[in-house]
Amino acid sequence: MKFSILSLLVQVLRIVHAQIYQSPALSGLGAPISAHDRIYTSDQTSNTITVINPSNDIVLGTIALGSTRLSDVIGPQYIQNVNAHGLGFSRDGKYIVSLSVTSNTVTVIRTLDNTIVSKTYVDRNPHEAFFAPDNRTVWIGTRGVESIEVIDGLEGTVIGRISSYGGPSKVLFSPDGKTAYVVLY
Ligand SMILES: *[C@@H]1O[C@H](CO)[C@@H](O)[C@H](O)[C@H]1NC(C)=O
Repeated sequence: MKFSILSLLVQVLRIVHAQIYQSPALSGLGAPISAHDRIYTSDQTSNTITVINPSNDIVLGTIALGSTRLSDVIGPQYIQNVNAHGLGFSRDGKYIVSLSVTSNTVTVIRTLDNTIVSKTYVDRNPHEAFFAPDNRTVWIGTRGVESIEVIDGLEGTVIGRISSYGGPSKVLFSPDGKTAYVVLY
């Protein structure tokens, strides 16, 4: 088989491109990083989410979710959302979900303008949350109880609770969206 230099270059580019993954936003292969991409980091201590442009490493802004993390001094945790932890994108990239694990809060943020869409209070010790393939329903592993909580992330309402032994930490969906995998630790 003969390759021209151009076709070889195309093959090499394809191989390089095939190794680029943008997790967890997109199923399958993502595009190369561009100025349109955003990185969201969740900081438990300051209880904030920071938004970064990965093409130039500039911090675009910080979303405050409530109080800073409690120290060994007793604090009024019952009036604020505390301890941001875990981030999960909807597959269409329009929403991202964060959990305040001390105050059992699920916060959904719209990525278009980084505004808070909903805050939902769930059962004890939510750990990680991910959107179902409908880009709207959020499944939350609540470690403190033997169940998984399901909410409508746009309305901010609890719509279901599924029994699961062992205090599940998270639920991940298969690429075709037909199977939900529960992780216990
Ligand atoms: C959710 O987003 C994915 C990716 O953009 C899309 O393929 C799918 O159709 C969306 N689901 C719904 C119910 O809109």
